[in-house]
Amino acid sequence: MKERELVVRGLEAGYGEMQVLWSVDIEVEKGSFTVILGPNGAGKTTLLKAIMGIVRPFSGKIVYRGEDVTYTPPHKKVEMGITLVPEGRRLFPELTVEENLILGAYTQGIRDIGDRLELVYNVFPRLKERRAQKAGTLSGGEQQMLAIGRALMSKPSLLMLDEPSQGLAPKLALEIVELLGRLREGEELTILMVEQNVAAALRLADFIYVLEQGRIVASGTPEEVASIEDVRKAYFGL
Ligand SMILES: Nc1ncnc2c1ncn2[C@@H]1O[C@H](COP(=O)(O)OP(=O)(O)OP(=O)(O)O)[C@@H](O)[C@H]1O
Ligand SMILES: [Mg+2]
Repeated sequence: MKERELVVRGLEAGYGEMQVLWSVDIEVEKGSFTVILGPNGAGKTTLLKAIMGIVRPFSGKIVYRGEDVTYTPPHKKVEMGITLVPEGRRLFPELTVEENLILGAYTQGIRDIGDRLELVYNVFPRLKERRAQKAGTLSGGEQQMLAIGRALMSKPSLLMLDEPSQGLAPKLALEIVELLGRLREGEELTILMVEQNVAAALRLADFIYVLEQGRIVASGTPEEVASIEDVRKAYFGL
């Protein structure tokens, strides 16, 4: 049995009185590229936020590398190696590319920052070229690279991404996702990504979960999931 980076069991969560997630079970293998598919409003962002500790679970369990982190606060989780690239990127537009990156490393010892910057600039040479440019003036694709780069600054073990290809042209979306694939090969990294734009994700995913109305309705390898007719029609456009 392969090692599990993350295990979610019977997770229920929501906002106030409103329940969004219903008994969600997920297992993410160490070093895998796992994708969560689902329509608007399914609860995908809520799930990532609950794993990150931004949304407090009603019940259920979140286990990271064998440790119960169900109620561990987000900053602690970042220190433990979990990070989230949120929907809509959340950059500091008035700060430069490099300043945004450095902010992503705030949990690390200052001596490490130079090395981490180097690593991120190796992955995204375009960010290096634009290191002194204000983040708000970057193109959409470059901003997404910066958001991912910033997440990498905290030396994550589990990198979660909330629709990284949102708002990008298909070609660029593919580029970003392929880059994530290479990143995973290079570092000891596990990726959990939420996507609606599936073509790119499918090429790289080791395992897929389909979330609808707050419930996991299907799961399996890309081939297995694609063979379920309803799923195929809804997500694969076939
Ligand atoms: N802060 C909040 N307060 C109250 N309800 C919320 C909040 N955030 C999200 N919701 C509700 O929770 C449900 C799930 O939202 P969520 O953002 O998790 O969906 P999603 O699958 O990420 O959708 P999308 O694909 O559009 O990003 C929606 O009905 C949404 O309106
Ligand atoms: Mg969302």
